[in-house]
Amino acid sequence: MTRLNINGNAVSVDVPPDTPLLWTLRDELGLTGTKFGCGMALCGACTVHLDGTATRSCVTPISAAEGKKVTTIEGIGTTPVGRRVEAAWRSLNVPQCGYCQSGQIMQAAGLLAKTPKPTDRDIDEAMAGNICRCGTYQRIRAAIKAAAGGA
Ligand code: FES
Ligand code: FES
Repeated sequence: MTRLNINGNAVSVDVPPDTPLLWTLRDELGLTGTKFGCGMALCGACTVHLDGTATRSCVTPISAAEGKKVTTIEGIGTTPVGRRVEAAWRSLNVPQCGYCQSGQIMQAAGLLAKTPKPTDRDIDEAMAGNICRCGTYQRIRAAIKAAAGGA
């Protein structure tokens, strides 16, 4: 058994320790807000936080998450930064198809938690690994700035 802390809840999962965190979240725990895109840390769709740091869950074995606080899209709205990010995403209507957006929000929340007033360059660097096939990049940047403005 591996013990995990997911969105403040202690859970135990009976899967091999090298199981990717993404599969554990989705298939064992029913937290399907975190998405599978590439499985190779190339798209950002699977981004969660480990102890507040944006992390690609598709390449993170659950053994690496043990003892850390895992936050997913289902829980990020309970943090002050996550609340602001979600509100900005809503008010600027960022999503198109929506598939990449939980990863985008998690990446953006991770950025703002560490850099409350990011420059354009900070935003570009932090968000470069999060791919959106619908091309919502302009609105993502605007929403990050709006969320930062409410800090
Ligand atoms: S599914 Fe993890 S980065 Fe693409
Ligand atoms: S909103 Fe469709 S992939 Fe980003």
